[in-house]
Amino acid sequence: MPIKFHEQTKTFHICNKYLSYIICVMENGQMENLYYGKAICDKEDFSYLHEEVMRSLMSVCVPEPGILSMQYTKQEYPVYGTGDFRSPAMTVRQENGSEIVDFKYVSHETYDGKKKLKGLPATYTENESEAQSLDILLHDSVMDTDLILTYTIYEEYPVITRSVRILQKGDQKIRLENMMSASVEFPDMDFEMLQLSGAWSRERYVKTRKLEMGIQAIQSLSGTASSAEQNPFIALKRPHTTEDMGEVYGFSFVYSSNFLAQVEVTPYEMTRVMMGINPQGFSWELKKGEEFQTPEVVMVYSDQGLNGMSQVYHRLYRNHLMRGKWKNRVRPILLNNWEATYFNFTEEKILDIAKKAKEVGVELFVLDDGWFGTRNDDYQGLGDWFVNKNKLPDGISGLSRKIEAMGLKFGLWVELEMVNKDSDCYRAHPDWLIGAPGRFESHSRHQHVLDFSKPEVVDYIYDSISKILDESAISYIKWDMNRYMSEPFSQGMPAAEQGKTMHKYILGVYDLYTRLTEKYPDILFESCSSGGARFDPGMLYFAPQTWTSDDTDAAEREKIQYGTSFVYPIVSMGSHISAVPNHQMHRYTPLATRANVAYFGTFGYELDLNLLSEEELKEVREQVAFMKKYRELIQIEGDFYRILSPFEGNETAWMVVSRDKKHAVAGYYERLNKVNAAWMRLRFKGLDEKQLYTVKWEENSIKAHGNELMYAGIPIDRDYCNKTNGDFYSILYTIEAE
Ligand code: DGJ
Repeated sequence: MPIKFHEQTKTFHICNKYLSYIICVMENGQMENLYYGKAICDKEDFSYLHEEVMRSLMSVCVPEPGILSMQYTKQEYPVYGTGDFRSPAMTVRQENGSEIVDFKYVSHETYDGKKKLKGLPATYTENESEAQSLDILLHDSVMDTDLILTYTIYEEYPVITRSVRILQKGDQKIRLENMMSASVEFPDMDFEMLQLSGAWSRERYVKTRKLEMGIQAIQSLSGTASSAEQNPFIALKRPHTTEDMGEVYGFSFVYSSNFLAQVEVTPYEMTRVMMGINPQGFSWELKKGEEFQTPEVVMVYSDQGLNGMSQVYHRLYRNHLMRGKWKNRVRPILLNNWEATYFNFTEEKILDIAKKAKEVGVELFVLDDGWFGTRNDDYQGLGDWFVNKNKLPDGISGLSRKIEAMGLKFGLWVELEMVNKDSDCYRAHPDWLIGAPGRFESHSRHQHVLDFSKPEVVDYIYDSISKILDESAISYIKWDMNRYMSEPFSQGMPAAEQGKTMHKYILGVYDLYTRLTEKYPDILFESCSSGGARFDPGMLYFAPQTWTSDDTDAAEREKIQYGTSFVYPIVSMGSHISAVPNHQMHRYTPLATRANVAYFGTFGYELDLNLLSEEELKEVREQVAFMKKYRELIQIEGDFYRILSPFEGNETAWMVVSRDKKHAVAGYYERLNKVNAAWMRLRFKGLDEKQLYTVKWEENSIKAHGNELMYAGIPIDRDYCNKTNGDFYSILYTIEAE
């Protein structure tokens, strides 16, 4: 049994062969965290791990002569007001204004498998033997409120998931002002905090800082999205931890709206990590009989470095978060018309682009923004989900069938959560807009947010889009969302309910996703938000791939895809080859390099192939053939290894190795040339030491053992590369066991 309870010491040991997580009931009935880390042997009593000493100014929370104090104790779900002066995991305002709570252990239940979280995305088990779960019931007798701390441990992964549910049983109304999903404490501060930060077109850059006493945090207050600025993920790594060795603790939040990930270090060098819905703007009233469920935090422990942690997230999210028909399937090679035409297209033009795509072996044509209402620019039409017959006289239904007749699948772009004021939808329902009475309604990309916290709005959008899906031949949907939420106020909702707006909004989005993915199980959904502002596990639960970034420049994409790989599997990263000069960077990169980066993702094109030369088209045909041959390995079978970081030097390298270590593909990328450059050695990873491999690149082929390739490495003549190829040169290696 991975979850053990020791009756005498009231200690829980949640463990598998990789990790141990030990918590116990304290003298005051609250829960204490004793240990989280590499697996240790089980026993009855771990109480020696409790560190207690009488200190100056300390508030003692048990009768004299006891000395238990919350101020210096590692708590499992800490609260404010009883002598702990750090940030609490929860704040509950009571009718008398008090926020003092005292949740004491009552009972617990362990069970095989994992329960669903109502209305929320979360990791799951396919059969019950894959994981075991624990619900610990705590109770506050003054409020008559239950608090349930839920844990799941997967047998084959160094993973614990956490969430919390609160249920009001008493007569008084209580107001949740803060409700974190998890809090974890460490006895020391010898960590660096790693985060994935950025902005539009430079999402998920890797940033690391040493922990200091006090608070360090990242957050989103974007309302509609987890955001391009901060990804809902942090890791605490030991200072000596590298990509391949050392300890790291990952925390990933399965949620797509406002979050807070906070690390607080005390002057006594203890570290508290908390993750949950951002308390700013959140306020949730519970009446008798009502409950609130937090989203889930996925905690990964790795003693095999950052890459070890990432591989666990990749496998877990591929097998236990993504769902449906596309979960373990290679993804179709697509061509998207956005950068080829923007809003300016006719049916003839679209068919022309699609025809060329078919000729080179592309499998799916995606029609992006601009096909509906009066959407000829981004000032109008959003919200009107009926086709623009001036552009597409036979409608989406006619166009999709013409594309299918060519032998391609057809995909469609939508932005269901938004509205332009210049639209029939807004004119008919001005009260469906998020915005506060008497206040200016800020616009962003000339659009406004539909109030998805209202079920009637979600129903309306569901009906409009279902109509199009029902009458057309649609195999793929790109679900875009292009603005954050300002003036978060739901018109017509009572004052006491306003603090629910942003969470209910995202529950509305999840509800629509649930209904559409259930009704159309064959459709492949790709989420998108001005590129990569919604690259989060919450979205991956519904849409197994995400448009990684609007920046399609190959050299920029190296950074974005490298950072994204810290948590998210390669198969989830939308990656396209676009035209040069690139539309975001105005930079020229070789067609081969654009492909060599895009192979490590879903792979597709974002340009009009009719504009390429015959020579380039030949190269494109070869690229498509390469991806068809290797996508099973890259997207489904392989483990991803980061080799050289674009954040640390002029070069990037990474590779994918099959589970049986017989096949691998590696990419090496140089950015700017150096004159009279030195040679360098590219050392592969993850291969079988004794296995003889054939390594091929360009016109070259060598035979070498796994240990040669990993320790001696392949020499790269950078001077030759520079002279013959210029900036942004790259090399693609295939590695096959003999
Ligand atoms: C933002 C997306 O990231 C782009 O790929 C494109 O779909 C545009 N929106 C369309 O408006």
